[in-house]
Amino acid sequence: MALLIVLLATFVGLLAPLGMASTDFVIYSDPPTALLPGQSFQYDLTPQGIPYGPASLSMNHDCDLVLRFHNQKTWATNTTGLGTDCYLTVDSNGEAAVKHDMNYPLWSSGKKSVQGSYAFLLQWNGGLGIYGPAIWSSSNPPSLHDAGNEHPNVTTDYVFYSYSILPIGKILEYKNYKLVLRDDCNLVLEDTATNEIRWQTGTSSPLHDCFVTLDAQGELFVKHNRRDVLWRSGARSTPFLYIVALRYDGTLGVYGPQIWTTKPFW
Ligand SMILES: *[C@@H]1O[C@H](CO)[C@@H](O)[C@H](O)[C@H]1NC(C)=O
Ligand SMILES: *[C@@H]1O[C@H](CO)[C@@H](O)[C@H](O)[C@H]1NC(C)=O
Repeated sequence: MALLIVLLATFVGLLAPLGMASTDFVIYSDPPTALLPGQSFQYDLTPQGIPYGPASLSMNHDCDLVLRFHNQKTWATNTTGLGTDCYLTVDSNGEAAVKHDMNYPLWSSGKKSVQGSYAFLLQWNGGLGIYGPAIWSSSNPPSLHDAGNEHPNVTTDYVFYSYSILPIGKILEYKNYKLVLRDDCNLVLEDTATNEIRWQTGTSSPLHDCFVTLDAQGELFVKHNRRDVLWRSGARSTPFLYIVALRYDGTLGVYGPQIWTTKPFW
């Protein structure tokens, strides 16, 4: 019996990270994704078109999670050699962890918040941040179609932050998904692999002066005529810093407030 339990634990431990989807740039708690052993990504940070990066995050085979900014090591979990097949996840209380099996974290961010859906990301300032719980999501169903490998080189902005003001044009892009504020002020989430519209606000304005903005309480707006509201998401929470993320499953989510970071914005 004891042997069976040990075998089961080992088996579950090995399967957990391998069965989990891996994502670039953002790790999600729901559905859970992970930065897998040996996986790394580099991002040419260009907040609103201004070059700022590059930054990279690597889950090394030696078990150390390493962050680099302009090719300099800026932060690490210092877990070299503590395990094998280590991976990074974030849980439903917003706590990120480097683990080598299901149960034992070798490193954790140490900050728990309320139960919900969280996002761990590489921020445009080159730091890591955890945001959540999710307070709003677009109404389209998640896509099971993963066209990610057909568009491997898209490393443009996949999130934006509270206080951003984004004019007509491309707002966010993640692989085959694109959020665009069209010239007629309709905010549209497109799948560029299938040319389908996945979600839209359906707004229109003859003024062609509209913009998208996220406020300090996490409410998303399409406005025109300087400040008139064309569309609002209708969900608000505690004032601080929020993000809108174009998720790997083709949905849009608002996460926040920020609950942990390695590098504050101010
Ligand atoms: C890792 O070690 C470096 C150098 O000693 C230290 O500055 C850093 O805070 C450590 N990282 C963590 C997550 O404790
Ligand atoms: C992606 O980038 C690599 C290296 O820069 C290049 O060799 C490859 O052709 C690019 N792939 C696409 C689909 O653009």
